Amino acid sequence: MRKISVVGMGYVGLVTAVSLSSIGHDVTCIEMDKEKLALLQKGISPIYEPGLEIMLQEAINNRRLRFTFEAKEGLEEAEIIYIAVGTPTLENGSVNLDYLEMVINEIAACITKNVIVVVKSTVPVGTNHMIKAKLDQALPLHIKAEVISNPEFLREGSAIYDTFHADRIVIGADNQQAADVMSEVNKPFGVPIFHTDILSAEMIKYASNAFLATKISFINEMANICEKVGADIESVSVGMGMDQRIGPHFLKAGIGYGGSCFPKDTKALSYIAADVDYDFHLLKAVIDVNNKQQRILLKKARERFQSLNGKKVALLGLAFKPNTDDMRESPSLVMAAELVNEGAEVVAFDPVAGEKASRIFPTVINVVETLEIAIKGADMAFILTDWEEFKGTELSVFVKQMKQPIIFDGRNCFKLTEVEKYPIEYHSIGRKALLI
Ligand code: UDX
Ligand code: UDX
Repeated sequence: MRKISVVGMGYVGLVTAVSLSSIGHDVTCIEMDKEKLALLQKGISPIYEPGLEIMLQEAINNRRLRFTFEAKEGLEEAEIIYIAVGTPTLENGSVNLDYLEMVINEIAACITKNVIVVVKSTVPVGTNHMIKAKLDQALPLHIKAEVISNPEFLREGSAIYDTFHADRIVIGADNQQAADVMSEVNKPFGVPIFHTDILSAEMIKYASNAFLATKISFINEMANICEKVGADIESVSVGMGMDQRIGPHFLKAGIGYGGSCFPKDTKALSYIAADVDYDFHLLKAVIDVNNKQQRILLKKARERFQSLNGKKVALLGLAFKPNTDDMRESPSLVMAAELVNEGAEVVAFDPVAGEKASRIFPTVINVVETLEIAIKGADMAFILTDWEEFKGTELSVFVKQMKQPIIFDGRNCFKLTEVEKYPIEYHSIGRKALLI
């Protein structure tokens, strides 16, 4: 059992802290957002992540997890300090390391014994070496800080599952002893540990996310071609995925990727490449394809209606993916803005992100409580997130509730053979349109 501190109770930091505590470590968490801190101290999770809150409460009850605002209180006893603060991208694609630097200064000011600093946050290649240099320079001679790059591969909505069933844990270290400690810390997860140097570990994170984003943009371009030649992307995707070298995952055509990672990390990697005079054409194309794909349902609707001005539009699904309330870089943000711009009357619904959406969306957008209310009297419905709740909705509901049952499905939630049984005009991604 180790005394561990985790700084930054976001999607990654909180899951990391709760998971480390559940395998027996003694974890103290530091969070600067006092509202979030108050919830955590009451055992309430500030984020929607299936299975997290129950584990949070168990860990608190077992007295192996606590939360504080004070860096000194949170750091002085730590043997190992995980950093999971935000590393957002700036407009030009570079990564904002301000939060990270703040935490490094706090560590240098508060620790009283040797520590291992574990960087969970996604940071540009070379950042861990910068952190090590800063700590070496700031710490008194008798205190040593080793730095480890330990990137996360958690998917929101399945972060707990991913922690205990990961394909690998990546440990980037320049010091064997620190690497050995990290093997011991992570051993109870029962997940293969891949040891490498720090620079490669930092790059594995960016390369992995960029490759997954590439798969998504590839299948989305294939979908757009399939529509033109009359092929069915769902079949193409299955047929491709049966090849072990390709694999079935991340080949789901839709309206593109969102979230706090793929958009940020693809831009950051493109910037990192440019910084070393390498023009990463392929990645730039991936980003460009995704930006267009997020708007593809608008293109289809404009072709269908010419003008959307005055039309009543139901937006179904606001989170960037199912099983999360996270709306960061969600396609719904782009869609909502452009629809309002064109004078459409927008009514929005999401099973989980509704409350967050009503704080983010302009007041002109009516965020409602149920799918039925959202589509009532609508001229068209856009499905933006593949919630199970939507897939399980009887199609007759659309026929009954809508002014005219016209659906633009951005996540191919329904089988064409199913939709064909109803008088529904149905436009989806990479498949033929069903007209009444
Ligand atoms: C973060 C990084 O953004 C991402 O690049 C990395 O892959 C994982 O960690 P996420 O957990 O989504 O992802 O970040 P975010 O949701 O922004 O949470 C960061 C948390 O740190 C916030 O709760 C913020 O209040 C807190 N924070 C930030 C601190 O407690 N102290 C700080 O100095 C800065
Ligand atoms: C991703 C990576 O999967 C994870 O390893 C990394 O640590 C963080 O970023 P996340 O963004 O939480 O995780 O969700 P993910 O399930 O990867 O989906 C990302 C986006 O891609 C979503 O908008 C989703 O709708 C989209 N997506 C995913 C597709 O459009 N098609 C797919 O086949 C898979």
